Parts: sequence; structure tokens; C-alpha cells
Amino acid sequence: MGFFNDYLPTTGDKLLTKWAHYFEVYERELTRFRSRPVRFLEIGIFRGGSIPMWKEFFHDESTLVFIDIDPACVTHAIEGTHVRIGDQSDPEFLRSVIEEFGPFDIVLDDGSHINRHQITSFEAIWPAIDDRGVYVVEDCHTSYWPGFGGGYRNEASFMEFAKRMIDRLHSWYTDQDELFEFDPIAKDLLGVRIYDSIVVFEKRLNKEAPISLQIQNGEVQGSRAPLTMRNRTSMFRGRDGG
Ligand SMILES: C[S@@+](CC[C@H](N)C(=O)[O-])C[C@H]1O[C@@H](n2cnc3c(N)ncnc32)[C@H](O)[C@@H]1O
Repeated sequence: MGFFNDYLPTTGDKLLTKWAHYFEVYERELTRFRSRPVRFLEIGIFRGGSIPMWKEFFHDESTLVFIDIDPACVTHAIEGTHVRIGDQSDPEFLRSVIEEFGPFDIVLDDGSHINRHQITSFEAIWPAIDDRGVYVVEDCHTSYWPGFGGGYRNEASFMEFAKRMIDRLHSWYTDQDELFEFDPIAKDLLGVRIYDSIVVFEKRLNKEAPISLQIQNGEVQGSRAPLTMRNRTSMFRGRDGG
């Protein structure tokens, strides 16, 4: 685990709180952002330990922004970082952060972990994620904790929201408009990756409708015919007895 293995023994007196299995996910998901200046936002500061870690992880000329509801967190800002105080469930506050520092390449939600807040923050900030950027939500095990507004298969939980996002990503393909309409987010969402307690949404702006390729003898032919079944009988209908 390259960077983090080396970094953790060098930490100073600011407390860092992360689950051990998150570092492998950070390596996989964030290493590709290290070679250039990025705009990074973390929700949730607590004792400030993640601020020096991300400062060392990302490129020197990056814009690193940290927000927390607790005014005491202003003391955790270090040179070259920005701390703003506000509530992640307040879209007006989030808009002000986006106006000041956005758009972002990476957003990491390590704030209240209240399911409703995670969804509100995602909805407010997702439009301000840059092309090829990622929105990362951690501690999603609170989706299974009623005390945080979750609970097994609770429709209001963040994990159920993430599962619905998997449907929305595939809404190009539906021929059941009355049940499942095309959702424009499919044009801007490359994928949703689910890890233990972490969900990553990756942006890919202005995706074209998917093309099915026929490839033979070095010739590549594309077709969107499979998508034209929308609103009429599917070419696949009948395979499930329907
Ligand atoms: C898990 S700690 C953050 C840990 C820190 N990111 C780290 O890696 O060490 C969660 C923080 O979220 C903050 N928080 C709680 N509710 C919040 C809200 N509604 N808006 C913004 N921050 C909130 C808390 O004050 C607390 O400092």
C-alpha cells in the first residue's frame, strides 16, 4: 500500500481516524490524481489528521478544501489548505464552497455519516464534479444503522440511493418507460464502484449513447439499434417468457 504505508508512521499530533481497509481503496481510486494539481474537498475534519495526509498525497499546487460544522476546526488549517465551517446538509453552504473553490476533481464525504446528509451533499455537489472526477462517500456502513437514518433495505439509506444509481446508469436500455424512465444522469456517470463501506461515483461528461460494435476482419462497425427498442417491443422480449 505504497503511499499510506510510508505515511502513517510519519504522522504528527493531529489525530487521523480512518478504517484500515480504506487505504487500499484510496490507493486504487486516487493514485491517478497525484501527478497533476487537483481540486479536492473533504467533508469532515474532526481533529485535523487527514489535512496533512492529503496535502502530502496530492500534487503541491492542488487546491485542498476541508469543511466541518464545528467552528473549532478552523485551527486545523495548515499552509496551502482551506477550511470552511458549515453544515453539509445545507445546500446553500455547499454552493458557497463550490463557488469559492469548485469544480472539484475529488470529493470525499467523511462528515456526519447521517444518510440523509450524505444524499443531500451528493445531490448538491455532484454537478460540480469535474469530468473524470470522483465523488467518494465513506463509512457507508451507517446505511445499516437506524440511528443514522439507515437500516437494512431502508429506502432512505445512502446504500439504497447508491443501488438506485446503478439502475439510473442503465436507464439507456429500458423499454419499460412507464416503470423506469431514461435518467439524464446516465450521460454523466461513468460508473459506481462499491467497496466495503465506501461508494465511488465517477464522472464522465457528455457520454454518447452506448454503441454496440460488430468487429470482423479488422473492420469495426457501430450500431445503436439495440437502444431503439425503447418504448416498443424489446428484441429481447420473450427470453424471460414475457
Ligand atoms: C469522522 S470525523 C472526520 C474525520 C477526519 N476526516 C479524519 O479523517 O480524521 C467527522 C466530522 O464530521 C463533522 N460533522 C458532523 N456533522 C456535520 C455536518 N452536518 N456538516 C459538516 N460536518 C459535520 C464532525 O464535526 C466531525 O468533525
